[in-house]
Amino acid sequence: SGSNKVTISTIGGFVGQTVTFGGWLARKRSSGKIQFLQLRDGTGYIQGVLVKEEADEATWENAGKLTQESSLYVTGVVREEPRSPSGYELAVTGIEIIQITQNYPITPKEHGVDFLMDHRHLWLRAPRQRAILRIRAQIISAIQTFFDERGFTLVDPPILTPSSAEGTTNLFHIKYFDEDAYLTQSGQLYMEAAAMALGKVYSFGPTFRAEKSKTRRHLIEFWMIEPEMAFVDHEENLRVQEQFVAHVVGSVLEHCRPELATLERDVTALERVLPPFPRITYDEAIDLLKEIGMDLPWGEDFGAPHETAIAEKFDRPVFITHYPASFKAFYMKPDPNRPEVVLCADMIAPEGYGEIIGGSQRIDDPELMASRFEEHNLSEEAYKWYMDLRRYGTVPHSGFGLGLERTVAWICGLDHVRETIPFPRMLYRLYP
Ligand code: 4AD
Ligand code: MG
Repeated sequence: SGSNKVTISTIGGFVGQTVTFGGWLARKRSSGKIQFLQLRDGTGYIQGVLVKEEADEATWENAGKLTQESSLYVTGVVREEPRSPSGYELAVTGIEIIQITQNYPITPKEHGVDFLMDHRHLWLRAPRQRAILRIRAQIISAIQTFFDERGFTLVDPPILTPSSAEGTTNLFHIKYFDEDAYLTQSGQLYMEAAAMALGKVYSFGPTFRAEKSKTRRHLIEFWMIEPEMAFVDHEENLRVQEQFVAHVVGSVLEHCRPELATLERDVTALERVLPPFPRITYDEAIDLLKEIGMDLPWGEDFGAPHETAIAEKFDRPVFITHYPASFKAFYMKPDPNRPEVVLCADMIAPEGYGEIIGGSQRIDDPELMASRFEEHNLSEEAYKWYMDLRRYGTVPHSGFGLGLERTVAWICGLDHVRETIPFPRMLYRLYP
């Protein structure tokens, strides 16, 4: 029909021209003589303007019929408009209605979180939710670029597994024909096998934890990035992690300024996220907590308030290293100088977002691994394949797991992980 079919994101290339795009009406304002249509098409927002005296009658009337979230094809002439956030507006010349929407549930008034979560499939259309999902996608892309450019190979571990990776208390049990199976908690053990085949590997996929925790940091289904590296020790592992996280934050700052602005994120806090990151040992963290009146006996794990208090002392993510072996995973390598602690680190995000990475050097000695199986009551039968990795050419190796949703929550400055994933799975929340 002589007009260019465009998207709002690229409309700036068509100033003075007639364009058409498919979209939805977000909001409408009208004075009787002039109608302002706030239009969205998924790629962005633009204001459409109709002046009664200039518009043809059918177009003016169609504009009048549009309700919130009605779908349409709109045609108009692109104009520069310095007062609009996008820099452009559309002088509307034609409207083809696809559907007039009745009673869209999410109105401009305030809604409670439960109501919004029940309507998550529609809530995704809100500008904030769109901004979060755009940043999530940028983070995923930055993660893959970081590892792809450094000689890592992407390897996919299985989701259905015969045994646990991170302990037996929070496994999702399912039937696998006549056998028992579990949804994966972590791909790590398989990634160790892959590292012995390919050197440096990473996985990216969903993981599952049947955790009865209802906190702002916990999801039942979350996505994890798990790099694993042969011939890499604890120290080198930490250097990869700080480079990695700084790269991801830098990439969001470079590519997602409009989205960060939509979220009103304080970007100065993100601009400080440059390596090296501070490091403190578990013992130092216990001392630090004592100084501020949060006494914790040696040998106990930190809770969210402890992590937040420790993070407040630093202006960028902090590593807490050398935790007691007693409450950490069975595969972590003891410090040779002090076997009651392990060569591990948690990376704690600033601003109260808590642990975003857990990682360690792994036990490479077959005898020690066998005794750990015994101490942790793990069946040698189920882990026979894992033991083979220590039996046939064992080498020092390390790796870590970054939780995607906690990272998105931190970078976006959100107060709950439920908004970081399109359809969150939480305690008491499986719908939609
Ligand atoms: O510390 P975790 O349990 O470590 C592992 O699973 C290791 N096997 C990783 C490895 O070394 N390959 O989990 C890693 C990260 C945490 O730091 C956190 O960011 C995230 O996964 N995480 C969760 N995120 C959301 N909801 C939950 N329930 C989470 N549990 C862990
Ligand atoms: Mg952890």
